[in-house]
Amino acid sequence: MPIAHAPPSVFLPRSPAPFLPSHAHDATQLCLRVAAVRELAADIRLFELVHTDGQALPEWSAGAHLRLQLAPGLARSYSLCNTPSQRDRYVIAVKREPASRGGSAWMHEQVEEGSLLSASAPANAFPLVADARAPVLLAAGIGITPLYAMAAELAQEGRRHRLHYFARSLAHAAFFHELAGISHGLSLHLGLDGPETGAAIAAALAASPCSSPLYVCGPAPFIDAARRHARQSGWREDDIHIELFSAPAVVAAAALPDAATEDTVFELVLQRSGVRCMVQPGQSIVAAAALAGVEIGTSCGEGFCGSCESTVLEGQPLHRDSVLGAAARAGGRTLMPCVSRCAGARLVLDR
Ligand code: FES
Repeated sequence: MPIAHAPPSVFLPRSPAPFLPSHAHDATQLCLRVAAVRELAADIRLFELVHTDGQALPEWSAGAHLRLQLAPGLARSYSLCNTPSQRDRYVIAVKREPASRGGSAWMHEQVEEGSLLSASAPANAFPLVADARAPVLLAAGIGITPLYAMAAELAQEGRRHRLHYFARSLAHAAFFHELAGISHGLSLHLGLDGPETGAAIAAALAASPCSSPLYVCGPAPFIDAARRHARQSGWREDDIHIELFSAPAVVAAAALPDAATEDTVFELVLQRSGVRCMVQPGQSIVAAAALAGVEIGTSCGEGFCGSCESTVLEGQPLHRDSVLGAAARAGGRTLMPCVSRCAGARLVLDR
């Protein structure tokens, strides 16, 4: 049965050349062509990707992401934001981050219609739970991307849901018009500061039954506020589903004492690969390894997802990630090579 869509409510505050994949022969990798690029919202660009030979693309489900290999040593994951029933294309939206470590700047500056990109098949660490309850979706900024796909899937299945979308302004609200057409009970919260956002989250959760599954995607302070208010409102931990898309803001110099330490040159040995090379100041271990011919799989590239974790066989790590706890940091047996370095002259990894 089709859902009767309530009109969305809007809350305002009270006051270089593209990388051509060199491993297209790898059967686990997809070779994609950029079929279209368009401005979606302020600082946000939409990319439509199709298979280079026109094949149907591997299946995916709402909440899934695509890991794109943009350049040697530069891979990024982006949520898919079309509907999973569309097998002829993947659609992603990329926000240009002012403090980009390369990924979003590369997508905005280097990728254009006709560019070829290598990707692994979609993976989903943020799936919709299949049950009859009406979910509550909370999105902030570019965190709308997986939740847009969820809202589209829920609407297609005729499942009721509630979506609260927080954006800086209407011009920054990607997919607003599409969501207004498909999403039942869309509430748009524009231009709120931190305390106002917390109050709006609390009000949104207080108005929803805590037996609903909750899906949240946005930056770390937003996630923290949503989790805190959900717990206070009686949500069960199992019903709170989170996807973080940027490094936790709280992980600053105080939490990462190694972050302030200056970069020095060190020798990197990748034991299993039989490779050694030098890592220069400002260069990541991942980038140095890639130049030496060893690909270390990454996802966030910013030290907060844990996908590049590597075992340290020798040497003293200089931790700059936000994944490892104090004990693991002090133990020195593992490190995140996308951001972390070596405090000494030589680092040996089990790679
Ligand atoms: S790629 Fe995410 S922690 Fe290194």
